[in-house]
Amino acid sequence: MKLHHKRILVTSALPYANGQIHIGHMVEYIQTDIWVRFQRMQNHEIYYVGADDTHGTPIMLRAQAENITPQELIDRVWHEHKKDFDDFFISFDHYGSTNAPENKTLSEEIYKSLRSADLIEKKSIEQAYDPVKGMFLPDRFIKGECPKCHAKDQYGDSCEKCGSTYAPTDLLNPYSVVSGATPIKKSSEHYFFKLSDPRCEAFLRDWTQVKTPLQVEARNKMKEWVGEIGESKLSNWDISRDEPYFGFEIPDAPGKYFYVWLDAPIGYLASFQALCQRLNLNFSEWVSPDSPTEMYHFIGKDILYFHTLFWPATLHFSNYRTPTNVFAHGFLTVDGEKMSKSRGTFITASSFIASGLNPEWLRYYFAAKLNASLEDLDLNLQDFTARVNSDLLGKYINIASRSSGFLVKRFDGVIAPAALNHSLIATLKAASPEIAALYEQREFGKAQRSIMELADQVNIYVDTNKPWEIAKKLGTDPDADTSQRLQDVCSITLEAFRILSIYLKPVLPELAKQVESFLNIAPLEWSSVDVSLTQDNVIQPYKHLMSRVDPQLIDTLIEANKSAPSEAS
Ligand code: 2FM
Ligand code: ZN
Repeated sequence: MKLHHKRILVTSALPYANGQIHIGHMVEYIQTDIWVRFQRMQNHEIYYVGADDTHGTPIMLRAQAENITPQELIDRVWHEHKKDFDDFFISFDHYGSTNAPENKTLSEEIYKSLRSADLIEKKSIEQAYDPVKGMFLPDRFIKGECPKCHAKDQYGDSCEKCGSTYAPTDLLNPYSVVSGATPIKKSSEHYFFKLSDPRCEAFLRDWTQVKTPLQVEARNKMKEWVGEIGESKLSNWDISRDEPYFGFEIPDAPGKYFYVWLDAPIGYLASFQALCQRLNLNFSEWVSPDSPTEMYHFIGKDILYFHTLFWPATLHFSNYRTPTNVFAHGFLTVDGEKMSKSRGTFITASSFIASGLNPEWLRYYFAAKLNASLEDLDLNLQDFTARVNSDLLGKYINIASRSSGFLVKRFDGVIAPAALNHSLIATLKAASPEIAALYEQREFGKAQRSIMELADQVNIYVDTNKPWEIAKKLGTDPDADTSQRLQDVCSITLEAFRILSIYLKPVLPELAKQVESFLNIAPLEWSSVDVSLTQDNVIQPYKHLMSRVDPQLIDTLIEANKSAPSEAS
């Protein structure tokens, strides 16, 4: 029977259903997946769920532009996203959609609870309206002339030409991106979540500053946003949008829809609920306020506000459990710059695979660069090639290829268990708690460095003991001691390789599978560190485990992304 220490629900942010998954998204999914796989190896009961974020104006307009229904669009994109995640070995236990019936029911129920708690208010507000298209315009659907430098076709918040920031109402000659018409002002009734209510303020101050061990940067931001007692910095949150809108209609409010950011995080719960149904888990036990389970959200730092203010308040006041923690990460740059379509560095997940690159190279590279902070991380394409080739191929894979041949050829793949009582093996095993702690704390870069230092020690052992020379000697002078030495050295080397493979398994799950069949062992768990190879694990002939990164592939990848059709996101 498996010993379950913890019961954990984990999510990554839900990607919008109108764009392709790119390697910037992949930072988060890879980060989450490594953490989840590490926890699974610890035998915790852990579930990782995701879903497409399907509602809102951009998705509605995108479907119109493609002359299909929003449902057709989101169905197609769901399959594209799912394939990308599968290709990168992102191990969701369930991947759903926010446009699912469970999500509608949950969103309505949560809304009604907030309303019963007297936390919903109605207010009329004035907004930009496209009189030709007959719809209210979100800020990013209005463009115009920069009030400072007079550059044309600038968005309502900032000018790309001169960099100045301003309000959408400051734009000169504004026009609707949808129809080209000049927007007019129109008022309508909106529904607000009363975040400024003293109960919300008190709850959020406690949740962000006392109860939740948020990252320091996140906690400080929250302190600024929530303000000191009596400061009342929070404003009410507009949770409704007028039709036409692709989303869920608000109960008892015809023509009004939930703003996408209301039902999107509820999609985490809905996706988990669908999983519970499939696995016969008790959903309400997991999501009730006093639940002993844990719930973690991995997100980008740009959506902290939604996850550490709106979301916990929504949950708390509708009688659901709040997140145990929210883990934010920084943005990805490529060669030190923002990803760019014209430079070909806006790299889609599917182009990465189509160009013949191995997804585990990227998993390793991101792992080597990730830490628990909100700092941005850089994919330096030259460094990517050098790092993967030197660490994964030169240090790690090399260990297996250098020693297994002798063992298979001369000893029928049978190892010498007595030899494993060796200081090198003891050193490798002793590193387990430290590496586990680094994974647990999301200090993946430090974990990979520790693992590679161990791999260095193994390579020094092989270089010092030179199994190829022992084999040569054995060829000219067959003698029992020399034969034993060769079997011992190869056994120690392969046991060392096995231990390194345990440590790398959260990052390289597919490679770990191949290693398991090569070493003829059961799927590796973290506790596999406590056992050793035995004579029952007849080592299989070495098969190529991973190739080197050919710099040519990177050129192909960049070219593929330069020529890709540009896409609104
Ligand atoms: O920022 C985004 O891409 C959103 N689609 C993330 C939603 S996360 C969650 F709240 F659903
Ligand atoms: Zn300007």
